Amino acid sequence: MLIAEDDIQDINQILLAETGTFISPDKKNLIELRLSSRIKELGFIDLQDYLAYLKMNNQERLIFFNLLTTNYTNFCRESYHFEILIKELIPQILKTKDEISIWSAGCSSGEEAYTIAILLNHFFANKLNFNILGTDINTEVLRAAKTGIYTQEEINRLKPEYLFNNFQQGVGKYEGYYRVKAQLRENIKFEHLNLNKFAREGIKKKFDIIFCRNVLIYFNESNRKRVIAQFNQSLTKPGFLILGHSENINLAKAENNSIWEKIARNSYQKI
Ligand SMILES: C[S@@+](CC[C@H](N)C(=O)[O-])C[C@H]1O[C@@H](n2cnc3c(N)ncnc32)[C@H](O)[C@@H]1O
Repeated sequence: MLIAEDDIQDINQILLAETGTFISPDKKNLIELRLSSRIKELGFIDLQDYLAYLKMNNQERLIFFNLLTTNYTNFCRESYHFEILIKELIPQILKTKDEISIWSAGCSSGEEAYTIAILLNHFFANKLNFNILGTDINTEVLRAAKTGIYTQEEINRLKPEYLFNNFQQGVGKYEGYYRVKAQLRENIKFEHLNLNKFAREGIKKKFDIIFCRNVLIYFNESNRKRVIAQFNQSLTKPGFLILGHSENINLAKAENNSIWEKIARNSYQKI
């Protein structure tokens, strides 16, 4: 199945309206690769027939988003953010409270949320009260996050002591797999959440720290600003937002009246 330039515009119209994200037209081959087997499986010959079906079918839209999101992640990814977390942010928050809430927004298959939990237990000797929420729009990666099962290749960035203390090694048919121990999984909840909808409606819960790394690069400018403004509303004081290595808040232009101070690389404090 071949996808034309106009088709990409139609795909982006749906993506932008619903998820706030878009795919660059130069990713045409990737879109073709990801969508063609699903379209064939449903018996459509033409992409436009599939898009018409998509508009009427909420369940299929979830599958469409699952196919088009980029979910690359890793344990300890961009590790300098975790150094700031342990050395600066947690001590600052602990001056005024004794339980810490952290949100991994766009958590993919859970590695970011589990890394945070592993490091908090390690550096605070299992004495810190914390809860972590991981959310994503992609239902497939969330399923993987909830099970907490990873391959040897996926856990190979973790130091042996982190692996030993926090994972069970699989046996029999699970040989070669590692599962996050139940006591670590208990501190982390994974839920389905579309950040574009969150930007319009917000959520009730407040967080001390929000990690939203390598997610907003897929959003267009106006939707990205709306999400950042809503993050500001969802943070306590002091409250911190950590973005990905190529993402920044433009402090010169207030992002929808939300005020931030840059405290470290890609890291911001709510003012
Ligand atoms: C590249 S991964 C980043 C994972 C992790 N934060 C990291 O830095 O390793 C981007 C994630 O954002 C999610 N995402 C994209 N658009 C979203 C939206 N509108 N709402 C919630 N999650 C979204 C994708 O499904 C994907 O899992």
